[in-house]
Amino acid sequence: MSITNIDKFIEEAYENFRPYYNEHFTKGYAVAGAHFGDEGKGKIVDALASQLKKQKYNIINYRGQGGGNAGHTVIDSESGKEYHFHYLPSGGLKSDIILLGAGMLLDPIKVAEEVKVLPDTVNILVDERATLSIKMERLLDGYYESLRKSNGIPVIGTTGSGVGTTVAHRALRVHVTFGDVKNISRAEELSKLFKQTPDLPEEIANQITTEYCEEVLAAIKNLRIVCSDVIFQQCIKEGWAGILELSQAFGLDMIHGNSGHFVTSTHTTVPGALADVGLSEKDIPNGSVIVAKAYASKVGAGPFVTKFEEDDSDIAQYIYDTNGERGVTTGRIRDLGWFDCIAVAEALRKNGTHVLALNCMDTIGMIPGGMAKICIAYKHKVTGKHIAYWPYNQDEYEPVYYEVPTAWEIKHCTNEKDLPLEVWNFIAHIEYFTGGIVRYIGTGGGDKDIVKISEYGIMQINKQKKLIGIWFKKLV
Ligand code: IMP
Repeated sequence: MSITNIDKFIEEAYENFRPYYNEHFTKGYAVAGAHFGDEGKGKIVDALASQLKKQKYNIINYRGQGGGNAGHTVIDSESGKEYHFHYLPSGGLKSDIILLGAGMLLDPIKVAEEVKVLPDTVNILVDERATLSIKMERLLDGYYESLRKSNGIPVIGTTGSGVGTTVAHRALRVHVTFGDVKNISRAEELSKLFKQTPDLPEEIANQITTEYCEEVLAAIKNLRIVCSDVIFQQCIKEGWAGILELSQAFGLDMIHGNSGHFVTSTHTTVPGALADVGLSEKDIPNGSVIVAKAYASKVGAGPFVTKFEEDDSDIAQYIYDTNGERGVTTGRIRDLGWFDCIAVAEALRKNGTHVLALNCMDTIGMIPGGMAKICIAYKHKVTGKHIAYWPYNQDEYEPVYYEVPTAWEIKHCTNEKDLPLEVWNFIAHIEYFTGGIVRYIGTGGGDKDIVKISEYGIMQINKQKKLIGIWFKKLV
């Protein structure tokens, strides 16, 4: 089914909506990050979307949470065109409808810019409960970071996109939603709403000029503002497939993330994002996929237990040379480290799934030395005690590593039968120490560079797991 008139489609969705829970949904997935973000969630969303398109599903893609702090480079393999998204989900190009959900923090000017370059076949709808996050919040983000610095408090190293300050305004109930402004036509009225923010430094307040508010209003007029969960439910009732796409990752969750403070300002787990958009786990009957890289990367301040040591500088250099590893939003170089089974296991547990996707498997196979470390426990720096959960005060711990041989060449591989034994052995170790099950592996930067693991692959992994099991029993 193709949508010929999106306004009529929305009107009918409202009219046909009935307040009982629709049990007849067909397909629904969620995709979230495992560690500190930038795991390549887009590739997995893209693979799911392609699979669903082949099965003739219409796709509705829900961006779960966050705002301009996310950054995705999306390459349309059909047209070869490159897109840079911050607000739109990375699976957007293959979707029939994109919903920017109720929990999102959106700059209308920037969203309208991203929407402008999309093909007409993609319809973008913004939830009326989503919060406006404008220049004011970005300036305040920088202002608070500099206050932290001058007061001797460690800076967070935010992306500067103003998500934290927008969430703070929401908590103070001085935020402005799309529902609040969709019928406003005078810039002065909008400016008054923004300036209800308490303790707004004068130099920031002065930047929210009438001209700027006019620009914001003009951008809002170009967006379709809806009650997105009604649209979602109606689409699912019509037999569409849904994908809930999160941004950032478990390690940045505002409560469960990195030592409590070096985190973003929204939940980054699937249960948190479901609550944000107004859905429940029933809306993702096919479950969640948690995406990790075969190594770790991080931007921003805060502990990074598995960060590479000086000795690993040739490995870091190889990864920088191969994959770039720069933040899409800020351009900052990401710190690099080893795969952390403790963090990933915690991410799986708190997302309520076992399903893992492992990106950059081609890269880890080519690192100098041909051996990769994976962190299998945290050791307390003073007591020497080992733990297998993700602790709050991560600075107090150091990693316990296990070494696994890599040395494989699988760039652009798409067939699991072409994967060497070492790959299955590596995956078996990851599964063994995280309790996860790896169902996708990324083999390159392109959207087609992916291997979906089927019964054949599961057999190979299980064979390796059996060997590891025996080996570990001997060790104990
Ligand atoms: P904020 O989300 O801009 O407030 O930044 C808080 C922390 O989350 C900082 O360490 C950022 O570097 C990190 N962060 C936020 N969004 C992303 C992302 O999309 N990828 C990686 N790190 C992120």
